[in-house]
Amino acid sequence: MELIECIKTRRSVRKFTDKPVSKEIMTEIISAAAFAPSWKNSQTARWNVIMDKAVIEKIAMEATFGLEHNRDIILGCPCLVVQSLVTKRCGYERDGSFTTSKGDSWEMYDSGIAAQTFSLAAHNAGLGSVIMGIIDDKKIAEIIDLPDTERITAAIAVGYPDGEPQCPPKKTAEDISRYI
Ligand SMILES: Cc1cc2nc3c(=O)[nH]c(=O)nc-3n(C[C@H](O)[C@H](O)[C@H](O)COP(=O)(O)O)c2cc1C
Repeated sequence: MELIECIKTRRSVRKFTDKPVSKEIMTEIISAAAFAPSWKNSQTARWNVIMDKAVIEKIAMEATFGLEHNRDIILGCPCLVVQSLVTKRCGYERDGSFTTSKGDSWEMYDSGIAAQTFSLAAHNAGLGSVIMGIIDDKKIAEIIDLPDTERITAAIAVGYPDGEPQCPPKKTAEDISRYI
């Protein structure tokens, strides 16, 4: 798919068919996401891929703060990716001090770039995805036994789209830019 077309036609997909997602295609997508830029090439984004329906259901029922909207998305996805990051690297100097006044915010900055790269690669491969921020990351960390050196940034539901979501209103370049 042409790049600009891929960027503009990617939508958050919240309904999926039952078609399973293969490990091969997930590896392809994660390999593409690994090419995202990162703070001093620190590459701290991690992808915890869950295909086990029982684990997906446990996360949906126990780690969505009772928010039915996200619970139902997770219950209906064949693959749930919990995105995490390796802490204390991105934004830091070797002596453990912060490089800039933004402190460790660069961790989330890099995670966002990686998540968008992941989402575009998924779309390019014919898969739909939605990034979910309203999740109980402490509970998910327990369920997936996340290493202490990582923290969860988001959950991404992945699957073959059931239907074509409409594009929500987007601002124009004029709305969001100024030339100085
Ligand atoms: C950081 C972040 C958190 C989000 N959290 C949720 C969420 O918890 N549930 C959900 O349904 N969508 C969530 N979304 C998806 C947005 O609602 C969606 O990107 C936005 O409405 C624009 O639609 P589009 O992705 O189709 O362009 C999130 C997106 C981002 C980037």
